[in-house]
Amino acid sequence: MSAASALALLLISVWVITETRPALSAVFYDHVSKGFQASSINWVDANGFFLHSINSSFALGFCNPGSVQAYFLCVVHVSTQQIMWTANRNSPISISDQMIFQDNGDISLYNSTGSVVWSSGTAMTGAELLQLQESGNLAVLDSTNQSLWQSFDHPTDTLLLGQKLKSGVKLINSISATNLSEGRYSLQLEAGSLLLSAEFSSPQAYWSMNTDVRTISMGSDYPSYASLAAGVFGLYGNSSFLVSEIVLASAASNTLRRAVLKPNGNLVTSFYAGTIWNEDFNALQDVCSLPGACGQYGVCSNAGQCSCPQSLSPLNSSNVAQGCGPPAQLPCTNSSTDISFRDMGSGLDYFFNRFSAPLNASSLKACQNLCLQNCSCSALFYHQDSNDCYLSGELGSLEYKGTATSFTFLKVLTSTETPSSAPLVTANSGGASYIVYIIVGCSVAFILVVVSIFACWFYRRKKASSSAAFTEDDGFLESLPGLPTRFSYKQLQTATNNFSTKLGTGGFGSVYEGILADKSRVAVKKLESVAQGKKEFRAEVATIGSIHHVHLVQLKGFCAEGIHRLLVYEFMARSSLDRSLFTETADCPPLLDWSTRINIALGTARGLAYLHEDCRERIIHCDIKPENILLDDNFLAKVSDFGLAKLMNREQSNVFTTLRGTRGYLAPEWLMNYPISEKSDVYSFGMVLLELISGRKNFDPTEVSEKWYFPAYALQQAEEGKCEMLIDPKLKNVTDEEVTKVVQIALLCIQEEVHLRPSMGKVVQMLEGIIEVPYPPLSSQFAVGLHARMLDAISQREQSIASTDYNSQDLLSASQLSGPR
Ligand SMILES: *[C@@H]1O[C@H](CO)[C@@H](O)[C@H](O)[C@H]1NC(C)=O
Ligand SMILES: *[C@@H]1O[C@H](CO)[C@@H](O)[C@H](O)[C@H]1NC(C)=O
Ligand SMILES: *[C@@H]1O[C@H](CO)[C@@H](O)[C@H](O)[C@H]1NC(C)=O
Ligand SMILES: *[C@@H]1O[C@H](CO)[C@@H](O)[C@H](O)[C@H]1NC(C)=O
Ligand SMILES: *[C@@H]1O[C@H](CO)[C@@H](O)[C@H](O)[C@H]1NC(C)=O
Ligand SMILES: *[C@@H]1O[C@H](CO)[C@@H](O)[C@H](O)[C@H]1NC(C)=O
Ligand SMILES: *[C@@H]1O[C@H](CO)[C@@H](O)[C@H](O)[C@H]1NC(C)=O
Ligand SMILES: *[C@@H]1O[C@H](CO)[C@@H](O)[C@H](O)[C@H]1NC(C)=O
Ligand SMILES: *[C@@H]1O[C@H](CO)[C@@H](O)[C@H](O)[C@H]1NC(C)=O
Repeated sequence: MSAASALALLLISVWVITETRPALSAVFYDHVSKGFQASSINWVDANGFFLHSINSSFALGFCNPGSVQAYFLCVVHVSTQQIMWTANRNSPISISDQMIFQDNGDISLYNSTGSVVWSSGTAMTGAELLQLQESGNLAVLDSTNQSLWQSFDHPTDTLLLGQKLKSGVKLINSISATNLSEGRYSLQLEAGSLLLSAEFSSPQAYWSMNTDVRTISMGSDYPSYASLAAGVFGLYGNSSFLVSEIVLASAASNTLRRAVLKPNGNLVTSFYAGTIWNEDFNALQDVCSLPGACGQYGVCSNAGQCSCPQSLSPLNSSNVAQGCGPPAQLPCTNSSTDISFRDMGSGLDYFFNRFSAPLNASSLKACQNLCLQNCSCSALFYHQDSNDCYLSGELGSLEYKGTATSFTFLKVLTSTETPSSAPLVTANSGGASYIVYIIVGCSVAFILVVVSIFACWFYRRKKASSSAAFTEDDGFLESLPGLPTRFSYKQLQTATNNFSTKLGTGGFGSVYEGILADKSRVAVKKLESVAQGKKEFRAEVATIGSIHHVHLVQLKGFCAEGIHRLLVYEFMARSSLDRSLFTETADCPPLLDWSTRINIALGTARGLAYLHEDCRERIIHCDIKPENILLDDNFLAKVSDFGLAKLMNREQSNVFTTLRGTRGYLAPEWLMNYPISEKSDVYSFGMVLLELISGRKNFDPTEVSEKWYFPAYALQQAEEGKCEMLIDPKLKNVTDEEVTKVVQIALLCIQEEVHLRPSMGKVVQMLEGIIEVPYPPLSSQFAVGLHARMLDAISQREQSIASTDYNSQDLLSASQLSGPR
């Protein structure tokens, strides 16, 4: 290159730089430096956004969501244009107003009259850069890139993934999607919990994380911040340990998440799924529990229907949801007027009553007197049967609960009261003499002294009990019905006496007997080779633990610690079905009679039908066999280990699934690489049903060779119309019809062709006798398939004999298979 052309190039680039600079519409990436200035009008081409994060997930600029002349400096999520943070939410500016990164390091936003409406407060701190990070955090950095200020510490209504809501910091809702001004609801850490409160004349809580049944308590540390992580909304202690958590539906680790305090006061978490935000948690599931569901004094019922209480009328007749009136008076400001109570009817409740301690009042009148003595009392709630008296300051929406013995009164001035209105209490009867005034004065003083002593005592007592309540709450959450408890490995080690009493070994690990601290007996299953992370495991356990059915073994708790994965189940006194069915010793365990066996079959079928058809997420058991059917004291059958197949399979790639199950009960599609469905469980159930009929194992080489493989023998007898030959010889008084019916059901279930097998729901109905049992198709394919199963069983046996120490037939029919297929 010649010197001349090099010079020409240089000149061109200088020209390009000087030409583009004044246009000022180029978008900056990652950061801008000291001296930077911006106003919305300079970036109209970019919709007002002048700074993008390095990969453009977020942008900083001026937004005007109400499409009026009200602009805000805000951080938006670029692909959905949703606002994540606002600098000046209460003081909008105009299109030409500026943000200036001053030479002293402060970043300020000015309005048209030249007032600073927002400032980063970083003057004289050495600020050099304003960086918009890929996480959505806006940070002011010094020359060593230390953060001097960050938007994550000053949230508005949104908490992003990884952002910490520390104690003392509040999330406050916006008035609406188009008016970003602060509303009256807040989310903050308080008294060891995460609280949603209505910021009325005094704050009124309406949700507490610690009392939400979906919260899982993890430790006793005092929470110091709340944060969103993959699959978890959690409270963390000082050393960043989880104290309690809410498991979110989606556990994917690399998705963007946020928690938003919505304009209506609900706290909603969502994750960004490529195009839209998907909600996965709502703090309040019933809109009637929201403080403003129906406006002030409006009554919310039936999940969102608004009406007005007795003796009040709508403020806006065309929209009852805007509230009712006339409003209460706070008559302390006007001592010369008479005070009375307006009856709002019975059956109403108020959200804050669930979070405040009631006063004890022996009667409605006593409760009204308490309200009269309290200047901030505007309404009272009195529960006749418990004598609970709740005083309320400013009142939001009411909920209709229908309890006939609870009454609500609004404090009003008598002058505004219509004569026809219901019970009134008058505080001051007027026309009293001088003496009366003295007596009244003295008693008022006396009452005041008593009240303040009582208030002091009550306050201290409440303080003491609230600190105690926190620890109690922890215990409460540990034992909440319906949610699996989290145990530490040490607790389970102690409970099982260091895993000393082994109850059995199943497909997924060994089971040990244990006794919990509350003296309840449990079975503790130690899972082997679970490659899942703790969070996924917990999310899965939460799903399994939320499934309740009388014929499914209850999951009581779990442990996920280090490499340990344990599940804690209710203890089943009579252990598994195989023990009762196949053990030879006379009377111990007692022989299962025919009706008990049918009940066991029916119970198992009902449990499976529930898993297949009624659960939110269909669950295929994959390992139905007598070992996994447990019996309680009354021989009630409960299916165990459901959902585990799912737990274990997640680790596998899409190509190979681990073959988990037990040969002899496995449906042919397992062995032939066809898709597995709930009908695979139906096959296994059919195999168990045959064993219930015969009282022997399906493969038993101690029998005459014709009967080695019972399913094939059963088919043969059924073809010859001699089903009664199949009944367990130990049983008496069983009619031929009954046996024939059950054999037919079993043969239907073990059909080779998946579509010929009935659903579990149908099986239940057949066993119950509600529907006719169709004659099983005894096709040649069925016979050929059964023959193949038999040859398979025989070759398995020969292999085991060939291999060294074979000493039990059990080894054969219950041999575990595992490994890629
Ligand atoms: C930005 O995107 C690139 C390429 O997709 C990725 O390697 C990088 O980690 C991303 N940066 C951040 C901060 O996420
Ligand atoms: C500018 O802000 C000041 C202080 O917040 C306020 O008093 C004034 O009304 C604002 N001016 C405009 C035009 O919004
Ligand atoms: C500070 O961050 C900026 C922007 O990410 C980068 O260009 C610069 O090299 C960093 N400086 C130091 C000292 O790390
Ligand atoms: C937003 O709502 C507040 C409170 O209702 C109101 O004072 C303010 O004028 C509204 N702002 C806009 C831009 O509508
Ligand atoms: C947690 O940390 C904060 C701030 O460092 C401190 O004030 C508080 O006492 C600590 N709490 C506990 C229980 O350690
Ligand atoms: C009353 O409600 C209707 C319907 O929501 C609304 O259009 C109207 O503006 C409201 N009137 C007042 C005075 O708020
Ligand atoms: C106090 O009472 C007088 C008359 O009794 C009335 O005019 C005035 O509005 C009342 N003030 C308040 C704040 O209720
Ligand atoms: C409430 O008051 C009644 C009568 O004054 C008394 O008998 C009762 O024990 C009190 N209950 C509580 C919980 O203090
Ligand atoms: C008066 O009532 C308010 C509102 O319910 C309550 O917050 C306050 O504690 C009460 N004061 C006394 C002394 O009972």
